[in-house]
Amino acid sequence: MPSAAVRPQRRPSLRAHERKNLALWEASAAAYERRNARTLSRGSAMGWGMWHIPERDLHVLGDVRGRDVLELGCGAARWSVDLARRGARMVGLDFSAARLAQARINMAAAHVTFPLLEASAEAVPLPSARFDIVFCDWGAVTFTDPYRTVPEVARLLRPGGLFAFSNSSPYRSMCQDKTTDRMSSRLLYDYHDLHRIVYPDEVNFQLPYGVWIRLFRTNGFDIEDLIEMRPPRGAGTTYLTKSQAEWARHWPMEVIWRVRMNRAPRGSRISNSARRASGSRKKPAAART
Ligand SMILES: C[S@@+](CC[C@H](N)C(=O)[O-])C[C@H]1O[C@@H](n2cnc3c(N)ncnc32)[C@H](O)[C@@H]1O
Repeated sequence: MPSAAVRPQRRPSLRAHERKNLALWEASAAAYERRNARTLSRGSAMGWGMWHIPERDLHVLGDVRGRDVLELGCGAARWSVDLARRGARMVGLDFSAARLAQARINMAAAHVTFPLLEASAEAVPLPSARFDIVFCDWGAVTFTDPYRTVPEVARLLRPGGLFAFSNSSPYRSMCQDKTTDRMSSRLLYDYHDLHRIVYPDEVNFQLPYGVWIRLFRTNGFDIEDLIEMRPPRGAGTTYLTKSQAEWARHWPMEVIWRVRMNRAPRGSRISNSARRASGSRKKPAAART
């Protein structure tokens, strides 16, 4: 993550960690692009994680044609632009005006248009059951409290809808020194205490695996996959130093969760056909609103 001398901004509706993170992203948007554009533009824009592993190899989102898709913390919206070109009905959300300005540049260059929303992922000003897919690649989920974001995504998804995101692994959170960013081969922090991780300029969130699973399930999600990414040997990334990248060859540094909504919003019962459809990755026509 970028490092910059930043002051938390005031937005009355935002909580303290959101204000601190927003200040960081507003201050570092340009530097982040300068440093990482090379990784993010390698091959297809649709690449997962710090090594930009292609979606065409991982098949996390699958076919997006005709689907309503929300990118949660879209940044410069490279993923959203590519998904829109593939027929998705995109909405890009980010709380940083500076990052959304970069998204507009990329959209104009690609001659693609879709709504961009300046809002926090913890309180999305959109109606319930609006999307078939909510996803992000190291987007807002890293920076938001999962006890707020997971229920919010559950509200936004239709029955059978997909929630997929990449973020840090709990191993990384336990082994990365909070002040130096150096990776250790020893566990530095308690596993059971994982939740809010406070760095000098930003706040991240992480949970123990069992707590993630319980949180997904109590919000109506079935877990389809947890991909623990291993960088291909010799692969490069602008996100890590050489020694950090070497650490990731031995232990999972980042993961992709893929979970599916198995019920209708607001406690209404999901029909048998919708339940069958959610198992087969098809969107249940009867459940659309
Ligand atoms: C590491 S970037 C990833 C974005 C994109 N995948 C990329 O690589 O450029 C994280 C993004 O999440 C956004 N973000 C962080 N916290 C957020 C929140 N609470 N609500 C919405 N967006 C948020 C940041 O502004 C930033 O654009």
